[in-house]
This record gives sequence, C-alpha cells and structure tokens, in this order.
Amino acid sequence: MTPPAGPRVSHPVFAAFYPRMARGMEAGPIGSTRRALLAAARGVVVDLGAGVGLNLPHLGPDVSAVHAVEPDPHMVRRLTPNLPPGAVVHQVGAETLPLPDASVDTVLATLTLCTVQDPAAAVREIRRVLRPDGQVLVLEHVLATDPGLAAWQHRMRLPWRWFGAGCNPTRDTTAAFAAAGFDVAGLQRIDVPGLPMTREWVTGVLPAPVAAV
Ligand SMILES: C[S@@+](CC[C@H](N)C(=O)[O-])C[C@H]1O[C@@H](n2cnc3c(N)ncnc32)[C@H](O)[C@@H]1O
Repeated sequence: MTPPAGPRVSHPVFAAFYPRMARGMEAGPIGSTRRALLAAARGVVVDLGAGVGLNLPHLGPDVSAVHAVEPDPHMVRRLTPNLPPGAVVHQVGAETLPLPDASVDTVLATLTLCTVQDPAAAVREIRRVLRPDGQVLVLEHVLATDPGLAAWQHRMRLPWRWFGAGCNPTRDTTAAFAAAGFDVAGLQRIDVPGLPMTREWVTGVLPAPVAAV
C-alpha cells in the first residue's frame, strides 16, 4: 500500500454508514447506471476515491490491474477485504496520484469528484496518468441546471458537506473535465428524482484528450 499522502481525510462515522446508505442507492438508477458503465472498464484501472469498493464487483475480465485510491483510513479498512487479488491501495488523494504518466487505461470517477478537495487538480492528474487511448468512466452528481434547485444546493452546501463527509452538491464536474481538455460530448445528464439534493448526475465515457493542454 502506498503510505498516506495529500489531504487528511478522516470520516469514521460516514465510512461506517456508507455501505448502508449505498445499499438503497445501488438498488435504483445509480446502481443500474454504475453496472452498465463499468462494463467498459479495461486494462489498468484506477478507482478514484474507491470508498468501500462498490465498483470492484463490476470489473470484468478485460481489467488487468486495479489501483484503488482512497485517502480515508476508515474507508481503506472496509475496502481492503473487498479488493480483488493483486489490487493495490494508495492511501492518497486524487490530486497526487502516485502513478507514472500515461500508464492507465481506465479511470473510474464515481461519486468522488463531489468530495475531493481540489477537483481541478484531480482532473489534471487523471489526464496525466491516462494513456493516449485511455478513458474515464464518469458517474457523478453535479450542480443542478434547474435554477431553483441550484440555489437550494448553494444554500445547503455547508450543512450538506458536514452530513456527506465533504460532499459538495454544487460541483460542475463537466466544466472541470472540459477545462482540463477533455471532450465532454460523451457525458449525458440523468435525473434521479429520489435524491432531492443531488438530483442531477452526469455519466458517460470520456476519451483521453488528444491535444496537449
Ligand atoms: C461518496 S464516497 C464514493 C465512493 C466510491 N467512489 C463509490 O462509487 O461508491 C467518496 C469517496 O471519496 C473519498 N475522498 C475524499 N477526498 C478524496 C480525495 N482528495 N481524493 C480521492 N478520494 C477522496 C472519500 O474518502 C470517499 O471514500
């Protein structure tokens, strides 16, 4: 395991409750979208903010190696028993990936870019480690396009961050990828009415950018 580095993240209560919270979510549209999306995972995979490992059971035979990036030691403790053989845990933030340039085929960004402390840095790191034919599989809730909901998300940002262990409901993840040079045409918006505060999500496959930033 890569020793701890980067932001200090420690949310013991959230880590203890996340599997239970996720159970309801995984039974609905988020779970079915996650399963369909992860079918595209291949080669060397980086799971950003791997949490307790909800992505791992959906990785198929086209995956050759797994790097689970997870800074919170309380999550790492719950993640470790769920790892496939040979997987490596890096207890670091997504902002400083301990991986060489152009060494990764697939990055998983699922329910994580809402929480990382510096999403612009994380997206730059994703770009750096991706091979030229690499891809990012994205499933993230985002700032609502509905102005009423967006205003509510802004108002609730601080209590929500406390409740969600740093989760920010106002992240514009599509814009963050676009700013790092990704073609975001492959991202589609989905509406999840059962999650009032995080009703709008983006999902899809982003190819590694071709041009230098
Ligand atoms: C809501 S959970 C999502 C877990 C998992 N990706 C999933 O799909 O279920 C967000 C995760 O991001 C992790 N996290 C927080 N800050 C991070 C950072 N700077 N870099 C990477 N992951 C981070 C948290 O510890 C937590 O495990």
